[in-house]
Amino acid sequence: MTVHTALLQGVRLLEDASTAVPRLTAEVLLAHAIHKERVHLYAHPEQELQELEWLHYGRYLHERLNGKPTQYITGRQEFYGREFRVTPDVLIPRPETEHVVEVALRIARGAKRVLDVGTGSGALAVTLQLETGARAWATDISPAAATVAAGNARRLGAPVNVAICDLMEAIAAGAMDLIVSNPPYVPIAQRQGLQREVRDWEPHVALFAGETGFEIYDRIVADAPRVLRPGGWIVMELGFGSRDYVANLLCGWRDVRIDPDLAGIPRVIAARRVGWPL
Ligand SMILES: C[S@@+](CC[C@H](N)C(=O)[O-])C[C@H]1O[C@@H](n2cnc3c(N)ncnc32)[C@H](O)[C@@H]1O
Repeated sequence: MTVHTALLQGVRLLEDASTAVPRLTAEVLLAHAIHKERVHLYAHPEQELQELEWLHYGRYLHERLNGKPTQYITGRQEFYGREFRVTPDVLIPRPETEHVVEVALRIARGAKRVLDVGTGSGALAVTLQLETGARAWATDISPAAATVAAGNARRLGAPVNVAICDLMEAIAAGAMDLIVSNPPYVPIAQRQGLQREVRDWEPHVALFAGETGFEIYDRIVADAPRVLRPGGWIVMELGFGSRDYVANLLCGWRDVRIDPDLAGIPRVIAARRVGWPL
């Protein structure tokens, strides 16, 4: 079986099952099975697959056909130009969440102490540490997620202090110049409407906030003034339909701003704690 034939067969299987982006998926899974980059598939279409490579490729295709996200099969996802390891213990970092990084860099590049609440893979904490050189902390209530985040921080050379705790309970008062968070924000009632890959594979603690979807925003905004220095910033990703609610939560704050994503959907909210600026 050559690379070329394996690719064609994989694409056909995925197409028949109406899997999204069948060619790209087959390429990623085949490249993963033979431990090469995707470009290798086109440079060496005639290469014969070893038996073990063929077996691995078949297993990956089977997993994908059963709904497992490609990133959980390969264990990798790119975020802000860096490769993060991901396991089913963490949310797969989304491109939309890169807007949180962009807004944070625009408004608080000078922050010396940064906290990422609900860090998952560590994507936000690691990226902001590497982009700014700030001292970085990250929390997660899931010990397994905290282990993944710590591993990514180590692998990417970012000194990030990872704590397992409920939101910011382990963080000292007045410690931070900047808090970022992409909190769980899906209302439980929307569970059935989620894509199968998300609903059946991504950790529920990363997705669901409670009945309304606003529960974690409520708690973060309530505790943030304790953790932030006066003038410090909070930057959060917004769930669909949460703009007005979260903006209202921040009505006593300064310099509230809302940034849309590329599709024009309100995606990031930022605000400043009252008091002296940084
Ligand atoms: C939507 S995911 C975001 C993960 C990562 N920051 C990202 O953007 O890819 C939310 C994260 O918050 C964590 N989490 C949920 N409830 C929490 C709580 N009460 N305290 C701390 N972390 C929590 C979940 O384990 C999950 O890792």
